Amino acid sequence: MLNIDVLTLFPEAFPGFLEHSIIGRAMAQGIVKIRLHNIRSFTHDKHHTVDDYPYGGGAGMVMKPEPIFEAVESIRAENAAAAFRLILLTPQGELLTQELAGKLAGNNNIILICGHYEGIDERVAEQLACDEISVGDYLLSGGESAAMVIIDCLVRLLPGAIGSDTSLAEESHVGNLLEYPQYTRPPEYRGSNVPDVLLSGDHKAVADWRRQQSILRTATRRPDLLRKAALTDAEKKLLKSQDLNNN
Ligand SMILES: C[S@@+](CC[C@H](N)C(=O)[O-])C[C@H]1O[C@@H](n2cnc3c(N)ncnc32)[C@H](O)[C@@H]1O
Repeated sequence: MLNIDVLTLFPEAFPGFLEHSIIGRAMAQGIVKIRLHNIRSFTHDKHHTVDDYPYGGGAGMVMKPEPIFEAVESIRAENAAAAFRLILLTPQGELLTQELAGKLAGNNNIILICGHYEGIDERVAEQLACDEISVGDYLLSGGESAAMVIIDCLVRLLPGAIGSDTSLAEESHVGNLLEYPQYTRPPEYRGSNVPDVLLSGDHKAVADWRRQQSILRTATRRPDLLRKAALTDAEKKLLKSQDLNNN
């Protein structure tokens, strides 16, 4: 089972997200255990102060180190023998990719630290041996939505969380390819038809078409990904024969 402890100033942002669909089921089945910890509960002053002005001046407030250190220490103390992977959510961190998610999902205990305001006192990253992870090259107001992205991405990878392992193997970003186009009924809708091959019942032809579409779609939309994908010589030839305007 994967244990995820989330340190946040806004635990109330999570419940709806955690209760439903794949994550809700994975929690109910004991595949993942997710606990929310309010950083404010680890303060000792009357006003439960979690932030302060930045040294050197400037706009905004910085999250204080003490309650975060204490929160991490209290989680570690509950299970002193366990190894914890600490992740600080920050726009300055390593970009989350499917490959990185795969590595993270191999841990048993993860602590996610959500920042807010101008961010977190640098000593948290320095001294708590954190991985620093960004969910994209854009700025969010808080680490809560970033933590939800990581949780969603990791839980999908846990054995038993998703019905079919085949669907995992073929999805976008697995093997650095985007998924092929998907269709369902009706076969014709507003003048647009489902490709004949998908109605043919020929499993090999369907698999070949999907693989080809996956490669062509990645070449058009994400040539950066395609450069890292493992393609056969025939597939490379197919790509060369296409006029994709961006190769
Ligand atoms: C407004 S941001 C602080 C940004 C910081 N002042 C900077 O310029 O790097 C507040 C918090 O949101 C979270 N955050 C913002 N963008 C993020 C991203 N792209 N990935 C992960 N976390 C992010 C972090 O936890 C961060 O501490």
